[in-house]
Parts: sequence; C-alpha cells; structure tokens
Amino acid sequence: MHDMRFTLPGQDLNREPFAMKSPDFQKKCEVMITDRGYKCRITNTVSISSQEKLFLLRIVDPVERQLFNFRPGQFLMLEVPGYGEAPISISSDNSNHEFIELCIRKAGHVTSAMFEARQGAIVSIRGPFGTAFPMEAMEGSNVLLVAGGLGIAPVRAPLYWISNHRDKYKNVYLLYGAKEPSQLLFSYQFEEWQKVSNVQLMTIVEKPDESWKGRTGLITSLFGEFSFDSKKTFAIVCGPPIMFQFVCNYLDGKGIPMNRMFVSLERRMHCGMGKCCRCMVGSTFTCLDGPVFDYWSVMNLKEAI
Ligand SMILES: Cc1cc2nc3c(=O)[nH]c(=O)nc-3n(C[C@H](O)[C@H](O)[C@H](O)COP(=O)(O)OP(=O)(O)OC[C@H]3O[C@@H](n4cnc5c(N)ncnc54)[C@H](O)[C@@H]3O)c2cc1C
Ligand code: FES
Repeated sequence: MHDMRFTLPGQDLNREPFAMKSPDFQKKCEVMITDRGYKCRITNTVSISSQEKLFLLRIVDPVERQLFNFRPGQFLMLEVPGYGEAPISISSDNSNHEFIELCIRKAGHVTSAMFEARQGAIVSIRGPFGTAFPMEAMEGSNVLLVAGGLGIAPVRAPLYWISNHRDKYKNVYLLYGAKEPSQLLFSYQFEEWQKVSNVQLMTIVEKPDESWKGRTGLITSLFGEFSFDSKKTFAIVCGPPIMFQFVCNYLDGKGIPMNRMFVSLERRMHCGMGKCCRCMVGSTFTCLDGPVFDYWSVMNLKEAI
C-alpha cells in the first residue's frame, strides 16, 4: 500500500506518455493516485429516482477519514463484500471530510448488491483514481456545466468546488437534461444551486409528462437561451457519449476551444490503476489518463466515442 503523486498520468509508471493529451490539459491537471483501501459505513441511503440511489459513506477510521482527499472528476472503486468492485464517480464536496456521496444506478452485479445494503452496513473503497477537472485553470472564466441523465453525478463535485470558491469564477451555467421529468436527479438541490451557489440553472426533458411545465427538447436547444463569451468560457460535459459529442461539437462551433471542454469517459474497469489493461482505448488507460479528458484529446483518441 503506498501513495504516489504524479503530474502526468503514465509518466511515473515507465510508460510512454499519452501523446494525444493536449499540452494545456497536461499542464493544468495535477492529480493524486493512491491504491489505499478504506472501510466505510453506509450512513444513509436516499432513493432519488426509480433507478438511482444516493449513498452517504463515512470512512470508519477517523484519521483516514480526515486524510482521504480527492479532486472533482475523480472516481473510486467501490467494493461490496462478496460481490466485487465497480468504478463510481465521487459526487460530493471535497472539502467535506465527514461523508463521501455516491450516486449509483442499479446496473448489474455490484450495484444491485449495493442497492440491497442497509444503513450501517460496511463496504470498502479504493482510490481516489484518475484525472480531475482542472478547476484552478478555470478561475476568472465563465463555466458551463452540461449534464445529461446520470452525468449529473460527476458534475456535482465541480459544482461544490465552484460554490466553495464562487468569487473566483464569472458566470456559471448548469444545463441539465433528462429523458423524463422523473429522471432529473437532485431536484431538491436546484434552489440551493441557484440561490446559494449563484448558478444559472436550466433544465429540459425529452418526454414531458402532464405535470411538467418546463422546457421540452434536446439539451442543445438550451444554448439558444443565453449568450456567453466563448473565448472566456470553459465547459464540463458529462453524460452519454452521443450527448457530449453533440454538445461539444456545438460549443466548438460557437468558438470554445476544444482544450477548454472536459468530458468524463466511462469504460469497463477492473483495477483502476493501470495494471489490468481492462479499460484501454488504443494505448490509453482510461483509468489513469482519464476518466477526465479534454475534448481535443477525445477527438484524437480512436474509438473513444
Ligand atoms: C470512471 C467511471 C465512473 C462511473 N461513475 C458511476 C457513477 O457515479 N454512478 C453509477 O451508477 N455508475 C457509474 N459508473 C458505471 C458503473 O461503474 C458500471 O455501471 C458498473 O459496471 C456497475 O457495476 P455492476 O457490477 O453493478 O454492473 P455489471 O454487472 O458489471 O454490468 C452491468 C451492465 O452494464 C454494462 N456495462 C458496465 N459497465 C459498462 C461500461 N463502462 N460501458 C458500457 N457498458 C457497461 C454491462 O455490459 C452490463 O450489461 C462509472 C464508470 C466509470 C468507468
Ligand atoms: S482498469 Fe485496470 S488498467 Fe485501467
């Protein structure tokens, strides 16, 4: 068990550096990788839709709890004893050492077992792993957060970060779309994001129900509702690949440079730390060189989307 601090994923591991990653992103993304494991107690579970639950985990050891640190965009490997591990984005405020929030969709073996776990149960986590959103590089600029469906889970961490350092960022927009109104997660936080975090929130659904009074359509149609200075804007885009492709291509057309747009790529993962090759796209390890990539890198990465 050991900690490793490194500037560029790959460099300290005696592998060829990832040539495609845009130089700008490489400079600005300094992250911490660790293979430490932590025992956690599930202190609360909240059903936030028919498919997703929010879990509050508390690291059992009080010293480890204070030491555990992560950056927005990183993920951890969640182990449900007897069932295995799954990579899950950290969806919480990195300045809060008391709780780690995970928003989990019931997908298969591990996540289904997690859905059965009761309050008080013990699970394990390893990490944090992967690259992060370069939050400091975005200071002094507008930030566009675009989330589709469960993509709001990784977007919550940068949202908390911005809220904690609100005076360092200019206008912040959160565009959030889902298929149906019931799939818009964290609606109980919408008011807080707008009033406390001073975020301009716009939501949209593809298939409205009778109760829906908001906007209907695809998330890209929200861009017609406001203007921003593309030269002074960064974007974080999380959701299914088809969505971030459309959104990033649209923003590219509006003049946001590709190395100022960041996406989170999901791949099947096993070790989370560059050992098993399960997550590789070409010669790139998405667990080390990602999951956060700038769009310039994604465009240059064959079979990334
Ligand atoms: C970096 C990262 C962050 C993630 N963050 C979250 C999160 O915050 N919340 C969340 O609910 N999920 C997240 N996921 C997805 C989650 O890890 C997968 O759904 C995982 O497979 C669940 O484990 P399981 O054992 O329950 O499902 P499994 O039994 O492994 O698989 C369930 C089904 O999903 C398919 N599948 C699994 N993973 C992938 C994949 N990457 N691409 C395509 N198909 C896949 C399988 O083929 C199978 O049909 C993340 C994945 C990555 C790589
Ligand atoms: S998940 Fe094992 S190498 Fe990336």
